Amino acid sequence: MPTAVVILAAGQGTRMKSELPKVVHPIAGQPMLAHAMQSAQSIGADRLIVVTGHGAAKVEQAARAIDPDVQFVRQAEQRGTGHAVDQARDALADFDGDVIVLFGDTPFIRTDTLEAILSARRDGADVVVLGFRAAVPGRYGRLVTDGGALHAIVEAKDASTDQLKIDLCNSGVKCADRSLMFDLISELDDQNAQGELYLTDIVEKACARDLKCVAIECDEAETLGINSRSDLAAAEAQFQARKRSELLAEGVTMTAPDTVFLSHDTVIGPDTLIEPNVVFGPGVTVENGATLRAFSHLEGCHISNGATIGPYARIRPGSEIGSEAKVGNFVETKAAVLAQGAKINHLSYVGDAEVGEQANIGAGTITCNFDGVFKHKTVIGDRAFIGSNSALVAPVRIGHDAMTGSGSVISDDVPDTDLALARAAQVNKPGLALKFMNRLRALKAKKNKDA
Ligand code: UD1
Ligand code: CA
Repeated sequence: MPTAVVILAAGQGTRMKSELPKVVHPIAGQPMLAHAMQSAQSIGADRLIVVTGHGAAKVEQAARAIDPDVQFVRQAEQRGTGHAVDQARDALADFDGDVIVLFGDTPFIRTDTLEAILSARRDGADVVVLGFRAAVPGRYGRLVTDGGALHAIVEAKDASTDQLKIDLCNSGVKCADRSLMFDLISELDDQNAQGELYLTDIVEKACARDLKCVAIECDEAETLGINSRSDLAAAEAQFQARKRSELLAEGVTMTAPDTVFLSHDTVIGPDTLIEPNVVFGPGVTVENGATLRAFSHLEGCHISNGATIGPYARIRPGSEIGSEAKVGNFVETKAAVLAQGAKINHLSYVGDAEVGEQANIGAGTITCNFDGVFKHKTVIGDRAFIGSNSALVAPVRIGHDAMTGSGSVISDDVPDTDLALARAAQVNKPGLALKFMNRLRALKAKKNKDA
């Protein structure tokens, strides 16, 4: 059965107290909305529609970056969740299949859970609602059930004292056949405490037609909704805890897992060791048996087998660190491709560069890649040896087996096997140091006496 997913993301998110629309706030290095979109992608949804309203331009830009094929519909005025889904009516007019409604501010719905909802549909349920047992039901809508059958969803603000005691709550996720979903929405009215068109009321409308409504239950952690910065922090913590456990289970060693921060897309191979306080931005892949030492920061890079990074290294986007290569303390790389066994051990900046196999970059080496307007490339050959404190003024190429003298400013290419010296020649003045110091000491003695 083809499936369309409609994600509601038009609300303002007042309690975030932010200039930014709520669903654009990041969790694990990507907008919250992206997580819901990925849930949709994970079940192979045939259509994906995001309902936007508040901050629509920013929300749409963020969503397009995740999936260029996403479709948008605008909800100019926020008149409730039923009204929000109704905005997708025309966009889905030609669609035959199931519609799943997700919320943009509920990022952690699992693939298995969505599969369970679709399977309940295949088993004959007309409307499927995802519920959960809430520790504190509070403001959540309550699922009114009777022996497994779902009769209604009552919003907390409309509920009776008895109904408020129900702990089975509405996650917001719903599924029905497209034409039924929009037929039921046509019947909604706003005669309720909030004067809104509640999507939740489609359950009662379906029951009135003797249709079968079913509640599927999931873990409360999955339905965590974000309404405040505090919820956002809790969601981040939940994501990090889960991702760390996954990596540990896959054979990654972390000496202090709670201090390691991962991104939604971090990939790390088995037998990699991660020391404390390592931070992964988006787009990092690490092969097997690498060592990521304490306080390193990685983003948009690839680390090959057996490479060692840090402590205190910063690996920026476009960096590819070859197998057995070493990037040591206080080294920053950006768009630098290091071949197998290359070494940059101390205090260097290597950007827009290619570094050959077994090349050794001395302490304090800087690739001067930026002329103020353009970026230029530095190419360093296999087994080249860059003397400490060299400035490599790009564009420049250092040949294979070539060398630069310490403190050189290299602005011309160095041919293979040559030694380049680009610094003032040393001059020794016999006895001048002692003579000079004696003169200064005599001057100081005279000043003390005069005072
Ligand atoms: C909703 C449910 C409630 C459920 C809870 C779970 C209804 C009527 N209530 O309540 O049963 O327990 O979620 O978190 O459905 N939105 C729009 N346009 C609108 C209104 C909302 O796009 O006009 C979007 C919001 O941006 C948000 C989502 O729908 O992503 C949920 O809206 P929200 O106002 O947070 O609903 P709740 O009151 O939390
Ligand atoms: Ca909410």
